[in-house]
Amino acid sequence: MCGIVGYIGGQTAVDILVDGLTQLEYRGYDSAGIAVLGPSGAKRVRSVGRVRDLEAALPKRLAGKTGIGHTRWATHGAPSEENAHPHTDSAERIFVVHNGIIDNARDLRLELEADGVELTSDTDTEAVSHLIARTGAETLEDAVRQTLHRLSGTYALAVIDTEHPDRIVVARNGSPLILGVGDKEMFVASDISAVVRHTSQVVHLDDGECATVTASGFRMFSADDNRAVAKSATTVDISPDELELGNHSHFMLKEIAEQPSSLERMLSGRLDERFATARLDGLNLDAQAMRRFKRVKILGCGSAYYMGQLGASLIEELARIPADAEPASEFRYRNPIVEPDTLYVAVSQSGETADTAFAVQEVKRKGGTIVGLVNVVGSTIAREVSGGIYLHAGPEVSVASTKANTHMAVGFALLALALGRVRDLSITDGTRIVKGLKALPAQIEQIISAPDEVEKAAKLLAEAPSLFFIGRVRGYPTAREGAQKFKEISYRHAEAYQASELKHGPLALISPELPTVAIVPDDELLDRNVGALHEISARGGDIVAITNPGVELPEAKVTLTVPKNEPELDPILLMIPTQLLAYYAALSLGLNIDRPRNLAKSVTVE
Ligand code: F6R
Repeated sequence: MCGIVGYIGGQTAVDILVDGLTQLEYRGYDSAGIAVLGPSGAKRVRSVGRVRDLEAALPKRLAGKTGIGHTRWATHGAPSEENAHPHTDSAERIFVVHNGIIDNARDLRLELEADGVELTSDTDTEAVSHLIARTGAETLEDAVRQTLHRLSGTYALAVIDTEHPDRIVVARNGSPLILGVGDKEMFVASDISAVVRHTSQVVHLDDGECATVTASGFRMFSADDNRAVAKSATTVDISPDELELGNHSHFMLKEIAEQPSSLERMLSGRLDERFATARLDGLNLDAQAMRRFKRVKILGCGSAYYMGQLGASLIEELARIPADAEPASEFRYRNPIVEPDTLYVAVSQSGETADTAFAVQEVKRKGGTIVGLVNVVGSTIAREVSGGIYLHAGPEVSVASTKANTHMAVGFALLALALGRVRDLSITDGTRIVKGLKALPAQIEQIISAPDEVEKAAKLLAEAPSLFFIGRVRGYPTAREGAQKFKEISYRHAEAYQASELKHGPLALISPELPTVAIVPDDELLDRNVGALHEISARGGDIVAITNPGVELPEAKVTLTVPKNEPELDPILLMIPTQLLAYYAALSLGLNIDRPRNLAKSVTVE
């Protein structure tokens, strides 16, 4: 979803804005724009396409030390220059960038038009800029606050005013927004990736909060009643290098390759070998509290939801607590029954997914206990939950999530272990899982350092317009995530099925034109899975099997093997080749791997 940046200080704003937008491009990339307040007034430049297209459209010299910028993912109105942000009022005095959706925009636009305002875009945001300009308030802060009272919906807003060039006024309700505190300069951004090059000191705005940002600092106040809000900056622990591509061809490949080291970091200090359990102090749940739960319900969206399914299976196996996962986007709309003895778990890489954040609020509103598995420290969901497990995957730039998914799966294994060990999981089984977790980084390294067979298989799959991913019980979430990754970046129709369900319908589709990727762990269901492979090969379907060493699968055209771990943890390793399959398929198709069409990294609108 859209990305916002703002700068005020002693440097040339345009350079910082463009650099910030480039970092935020993963949030949306159909158009981009900036507005800068300079010695000769305001200058706005917008362009359809990527940030580099905006850069090409910029004049050679663009003076000005205050400015705002935006990279857009279209919601209201098609990608076009007119619809790109910043938006302005008729007198071109107020400039606004916005992330979120104004639900009553249609009414506001009609009202403005009835009043003679000529709207120049199809967006909800343009209405906001006209409303701010028309309040007649003496200060920009009052004008923004008065306008906010007229809006329903979600927003992160940054506003500049040619009559008050010494400030940026920002507001947040439901969409992420942070301030970066520098030395005689301040930054505004949707997330820290846009500011880490300049400062490690950040302030997170909460819903209902506004701020006046000047070169010398910031002052926060509530949108409701203008009450002063005291907040201080926290230090973020991300080095700018983590956001660089280095010598990798794509962020996706870089992030796949980072998994062994990022997992080492995640596990460090969290495995307790003496008691064969996981140390998860951040959960804020003691043993008694952990024993109280009779069910676990996991909420997330997209790949995070599939990792929730994998987590539910781990929790049922290791802790023997009934567990399931549900898309947060469904949960929030169905007036869910929230039970006091259920542990709710929100899972999210960004910590900003609007559907998941809303589901968290719904659980809290109904008195439920909700913890989080979140990657981005200080993000909305991380701050809303009562405790959690930070995933420590480091920044993930590629839109298609890989390492954060693996960290989610491992996070659930830690949670399952901790829940199991305060119940009936024996010390022997606990030790087995601890050892298995410790082995994961080296085993993943082994998989990713031998990509040749995967590349070959990926080319074969890329030729098919449609394919199946199948798995059974433990292997099914892996198959779902494999299909998700494949379709996201190769634009091939990839569908996941339980291997057990093939004969109940989908087998009708099997033919030489429709290959299958089969997740075949060497476990107690191996014979059953082999049976499904027979059924496919008997109908002429090509098979790419992902399995463990020693498993002979003559039905498969290509067999990819991953090292064997413990049966409960094998699905994590079996997932790694599916990441590589998706990557190499998209590569062979010549597609834009890190920026797939129609998708954005952080889905902060509903
Ligand atoms: C898939 C993908 C999406 C996200 C989903 C949730 O590669 O990235 O399906 O998993 O949008 O995002 P987070 O985890 O940030 O809540």
